[in-house]
Amino acid sequence: METSQNIGPVVLLGPPGAGKGTQAKRIAEHYGIPQISTGDILRGNVQRGTELGLQAQALMARGELVPDDLVCDMVAWRVRDVDCECGFILDGFPRTARQAGWLDAFFESEIFENSGGGKWCLPIVIRIDVDYNQLVKRLTGRRTCLANGHIYNVYFQPPRIPDICDVDGSPLIIRSDDREEVIRERLQTYDVQTRPVAEYYEQKGRLVPVNGDLEVGEVTGQMFWVIEHRDGNCL
Ligand code: AP5
Repeated sequence: METSQNIGPVVLLGPPGAGKGTQAKRIAEHYGIPQISTGDILRGNVQRGTELGLQAQALMARGELVPDDLVCDMVAWRVRDVDCECGFILDGFPRTARQAGWLDAFFESEIFENSGGGKWCLPIVIRIDVDYNQLVKRLTGRRTCLANGHIYNVYFQPPRIPDICDVDGSPLIIRSDDREEVIRERLQTYDVQTRPVAEYYEQKGRLVPVNGDLEVGEVTGQMFWVIEHRDGNCL
């Protein structure tokens, strides 16, 4: 990992299976800033059987969204951590118009005030665009490392040994919401609730689309270019 560079917040938008998690890990590694995945935090809570996990579990299993208030509180708590000072990657947040409005208000009220001289800049918002049929194939083929969340795909990025993580030797699992009927529901939820979020940022002139149909490394290259050529540079 490189030492942290102050790239400010990065928001990754895109449908389920677009590659948000895959790319967030690469950006995090390259710039030394944390990935904040609302999906991972929620799954962690489900696994530990917390109050939040109990509220989220059935909704996630059906491919529906968890209530805005719960998710916004979770994000507010996480981004105040000291490791977020030089930036962070929001993977899977915001996902509704209300979450996007909340995030803008949050940046204005909290981060700019506490930033000690304008260290922060507005988030750069990157949307990963991928063909629908490709999304379904990516999600049905996904395997995730149980211990540390490393991501594989039986069609596109298979592990060296089937069902074993190359990095830490943990078993690879199929996420419970990667069943075909839930995948269709998640993609529909994205269309109805999250597509307007992209439009919201587009109207503000803050949305940068990237072609997510390309090979993983090529998508990462586009991401780095966008981050390093942003307006109102944080670098
Ligand atoms: P979440 O975990 O955020 O899931 P998601 O948005 O549906 O996205 P995924 O994790 O499925 O896909 P991804 O884009 O990260 O793709 P990945 O990199 O893994 O959310 C899960 C649930 O939590 C939600 O349904 C909701 O209930 C709840 N939730 C979360 N956030 C919420 C919020 N803000 N508000 C309310 N509820 C919330 O890649 C997918 C596969 O493709 C992998 O196998 C990978 O290896 C492969 N792949 C990636 N890139 C490429 C490429 N370029 N070429 C070929 N294969 C590729």
